[in-house]
Amino acid sequence: MLEKFSKWKANFTTNDLTTSEESNIPKHVAIIMDGNGRWAKKKGLPRIAGHREGMKVINKVVRKANELGVEILTLYAFSTENWKRPKTEVEYLLKLPERFLGIELPKLIEQNVKVRLMGSLENLPEHTLRAVEKAVYETRNNTGLVLNFALNYGSRYEILEAMKAIGKQIQAGEMTEDDISEESFSQYLMTAELRDPDLLIRTSGEIRLSNFMLWQLAYSEFWFTDVLWPDFNEHHFTEAVAVYQKRARRYGGI
Ligand code: IPE
Ligand code: IPE
Ligand code: MG
Repeated sequence: MLEKFSKWKANFTTNDLTTSEESNIPKHVAIIMDGNGRWAKKKGLPRIAGHREGMKVINKVVRKANELGVEILTLYAFSTENWKRPKTEVEYLLKLPERFLGIELPKLIEQNVKVRLMGSLENLPEHTLRAVEKAVYETRNNTGLVLNFALNYGSRYEILEAMKAIGKQIQAGEMTEDDISEESFSQYLMTAELRDPDLLIRTSGEIRLSNFMLWQLAYSEFWFTDVLWPDFNEHHFTEAVAVYQKRARRYGGI
């Protein structure tokens, strides 16, 4: 009965979920934050204006995720393919972590958020790494929402790195191929201590993964919206969670 009620509620009050116990809140939500450039273009502004505006959305989503009882929020901030963009845009994108954390870190600490990073540390500028590492360090004892930034992240790169590490261990006689299982393989990925995402959100109307968490999203629920990332807000996030609550996950069963 309770379940039925909360399903009904989710249906009709998508902007105002009120419960986190009796309903099925996704524990791990991953977001492909897309559409900054198009947002700026629509307004006749340079692309970087879209990135600056998009940065402001993160705080709203973190607050709402925390409030709803989401445990992990993974945000795709920069992909291994985004290096193909013009140098000035890449430089701006890689300045954003510093800028964002400069303003938001005290608020994240106040909210008990634990910052985490996944991606290749190679090629990232010193100032970007320093800002993120400081945030990781200063929030290391926090016990609330895990805010996992995917920065210079690519899923194929991640999988290949895992394979190389396993190959080396086999060569060194530290393990054999029989030790490779889904569980043990997962431990070599950049998400080792995180559960797989329950819900994936992508903004801006693109219906693709763009090399994001290919292994981890095997059984996740997907929610796509045409809303461009700078226009995304806590109500859209709640709507996505409400839709998720009504999905039936079967994992191949019946
Ligand atoms: C998302 O917005 C931000 C990053 C990929 C870093 P885009 O910059 O991809 O914006 P569009 O897709 O060109 O509109
Ligand atoms: C995915 O968006 C990467 C991030 C959001 C960081 P892109 O804009 O780079 O993806 P494509 O190029 O449209 O597939
Ligand atoms: Mg894009």
